[in-house]
Amino acid sequence: VEPGIAGPRIDCLPEPSGNQTVCESRGCIWNPVDNDIDGAPWCYFKDGVGYNLASQIGSTYILRKNNGPRNPWGADFENIQLRTSTIGGSVLNVKIGVDGRYEPPVDFPRETISTSETLSFTTASSDDLFWFSVIRNSTNRKIFDTSLGGLIFSDQFLQLSTYLPSENMYGWGENAHQSLKHNFSRYLTWGMLARDQPPNSGNLDTMNLYGVHPFYMCLEPDGNAHGVFIFNSNPQEVTTAPGPSLIYRTIGGNLDIYFFPGPTPALVTQQYLAFIGKPFLPSYWALGYQLSRYGYSGLDEMKQRVGAVRDAGIPLDIAVADIDYMNRYKDFSTNDNWAGFEDYVKQMHGWNMKMIPIFDPAVEADYLPFQRAMSMGAKFIEWDDYSQVQQDIQKLYPMAKDTKIMLGVVWPDHHVGFPDFLDSTGKTQAWWRDELELYHSKLTFDGIWIDMNEPANFGTNELHPWYFDDNDHPNDAPLFCPTNGSNQWDLPLFQTHAVYYYGGNQNNAYLSSKTLCLTGVQNNGSYRFYDVKNLYGLTEAIQTQAALMDVTGKRGAVVSRSTFPSAGRYAGHWLGDNTARWEDLRTSVIGAQEFNLFGIPYVGSDVCGFLGQSNEELCLRWQQMGAFHSFFRNHNTLGEPAQDPAVWPSVASATKTANLFRYQYLPYLFSLHFQASQNGLTVVQSREILQNATERCEEIPSSILVAPVLYQGAVTTNLYLPNDVWYSLFDYKYGSQIDAGYIIVPSPTTYRIPVFVRGGSAVPRQTPTTTTTMSRHNPFELLVAPCQMGRAVGVLYWDDGQKIVDSFDTHDFHQFNFNYNSTSSGAQLTISRTRKGTVVLPTMDIIEIFNYPSPPNFRSFTLNGSTVNINVQSSTYSGITKTLYISTKNL
Ligand code: NOJ
Repeated sequence: VEPGIAGPRIDCLPEPSGNQTVCESRGCIWNPVDNDIDGAPWCYFKDGVGYNLASQIGSTYILRKNNGPRNPWGADFENIQLRTSTIGGSVLNVKIGVDGRYEPPVDFPRETISTSETLSFTTASSDDLFWFSVIRNSTNRKIFDTSLGGLIFSDQFLQLSTYLPSENMYGWGENAHQSLKHNFSRYLTWGMLARDQPPNSGNLDTMNLYGVHPFYMCLEPDGNAHGVFIFNSNPQEVTTAPGPSLIYRTIGGNLDIYFFPGPTPALVTQQYLAFIGKPFLPSYWALGYQLSRYGYSGLDEMKQRVGAVRDAGIPLDIAVADIDYMNRYKDFSTNDNWAGFEDYVKQMHGWNMKMIPIFDPAVEADYLPFQRAMSMGAKFIEWDDYSQVQQDIQKLYPMAKDTKIMLGVVWPDHHVGFPDFLDSTGKTQAWWRDELELYHSKLTFDGIWIDMNEPANFGTNELHPWYFDDNDHPNDAPLFCPTNGSNQWDLPLFQTHAVYYYGGNQNNAYLSSKTLCLTGVQNNGSYRFYDVKNLYGLTEAIQTQAALMDVTGKRGAVVSRSTFPSAGRYAGHWLGDNTARWEDLRTSVIGAQEFNLFGIPYVGSDVCGFLGQSNEELCLRWQQMGAFHSFFRNHNTLGEPAQDPAVWPSVASATKTANLFRYQYLPYLFSLHFQASQNGLTVVQSREILQNATERCEEIPSSILVAPVLYQGAVTTNLYLPNDVWYSLFDYKYGSQIDAGYIIVPSPTTYRIPVFVRGGSAVPRQTPTTTTTMSRHNPFELLVAPCQMGRAVGVLYWDDGQKIVDSFDTHDFHQFNFNYNSTSSGAQLTISRTRKGTVVLPTMDIIEIFNYPSPPNFRSFTLNGSTVNINVQSSTYSGITKTLYISTKNL
């Protein structure tokens, strides 16, 4: 075993077991190193693995397998093509592939935004090894460089590696990352396969979770940002390694790579989202606070907890119903101990609250909705041919008789089928819509939560599945995938980190573990589940959003557990089954930032923690942090004690403070979502990314900076305020300017968590109350936080909060721009309406101005040339904080 850092090595033996003999039989180098140092593989490919350039016609390159070592996981293609093209003058596409291979059926808009920044593609070779680089023309910087070697292209093993221009790389998912920036001091492999896998930060940290996002953003040493998206939907993985370098592997499709030139992080996001699709605009109410739990004993308990939260005066908009409301966990049915649910929903509507129920894709194969599906010709995920059908199970289900439906086991008592949302006849989609409509005619829900859509299946390939030990599942027999060697879909020669990570652990030993057999098919056999499995959540989200809008006539909101690039057009996401631990609170902050980069800004975590028992301090801090995430839901698992904020007086009080602050700033949060939908931007950004990218002193583009309290017992918080003007919005210094740099601020549980407004911002607010609907009728307010030059700008977008957005060109909305300017002779605020909608607007009655130099004339101001009196009793000026608070009527 050699000490020291091993340098770039491309793993030739990623399987959990193997030795020198296996390694050398693959033609690879065996050279053990001390794994504690950088985790380098002991068995790695020799230099020179790859292809050489056989010919080139224009931007098409024909590559031929060279004389270097060959792929141990199947035959290399002798000839592959590399084609480059530029989309809209700025996005560079490099596609390495073979004609006729599987392409993911995802319909991206593929739009571009104009920028003068361009990238170029160059090739080089040494001996018989071909490689390519992508270069930023304005700086001549290599942003991608495959001279690291290791290009492999076989049917079920594709590999590409590159050096990176810096270690400031963010993204790839879905995984629980413990730092936003990846760590290149060690070899770490991250699986990407949609699986019902709770994030287990702490000990099991590179697992593949619910969705797949092969996208990263990288900051170059000079602060320029670029993005890279690999359009591939097969099971896949990426290794982050010293160099800094990346090694990407997938087991199907092509290597279809898109480079977005930035050069700012915001432009990278805009370019990526123009290409894959911009996020949907949630209903205004969907930005309200949500109360949820799995394991309500019945409707009475939901009423009791919702009542307790409301009685505590905590702003609350949404009650969420988990699978408990269903009769024996069957979609589109209601449990007996939820009798009166519809009346309660009507009552909640009367309180201006909304209701979001869960629907799972797993539909029991022996009740009316399933029968209707059969008679409508709806499709379910199927076995490839009749010989594979598990006949002993099938014969228990007369409704599924003579079908090839792959029956699985989820929450319902009996076997289930999984709707085929890729069905090109549209019958499955029509059936799903009709069932939602029928159920909506009984229970008037407002949004939809889609869960278990990896899709999850319990006990696959397990002889003694834990779940089947209970009496609820008398008839269950688990799904077994054909695991003989000839099943190239369930047992491909290379199975990715999603399997190897577990070292052969029974529960995760297969790609099909906790899900369906990859040998399955969709759309009448035209798609192999092996290829499209990672699209299941996306395709369900597409159909569910369409159905929700159709059935309710409003845009509502859908949240989905499984996602793929472009899912943000149709749904939001929560970060899955976290645990009530401080480290999970910390990874939630990172997860939300990443999903913003992935184009899914309607995102948040299970506040107070899902698994395990929460506690007063953790729950309080999580409520305070969650109040700054777009999707803001307290959610708890079966069997754990209640953890809604009304359980502990201290949590109730902190939550009330945090929620009132959130509701006060909702016009700003909504405007951020509006801009994200219209222009393809993030809502939450990372200070770290902005700062690393803006060392050139560009302005930090957003207005509010939040530094959540993430450690047990913390009564102070260390944070970094980038070089700019900042004012406190949270402590006894409210309204005063805070010096930039590393600072320590007080953060007792009785304050809100540290939150600052950036100088230069004019932030729209509204006097808050306990629901978003009622808050929308209150007067607007404007917070003006001037920069050093005494200026501030901001914007407010406002629509009716629920109309479906067909196109922003025709959508009915208002847009106001705020422009504040103060000089020694006075201050002037210009409000211009740049877009006029028809929605009736409240007046703007409060204007709060920070850093107002001297006591003003306290009786009036001039509005468009006329004098307006101010309310002298409720207007104030503090000479200490220099805050001017103007209260007037009907401005
Ligand atoms: C799994 C989901 O992730 C969780 O949020 C939910 O409570 C359970 N399924 C039960 O529906």
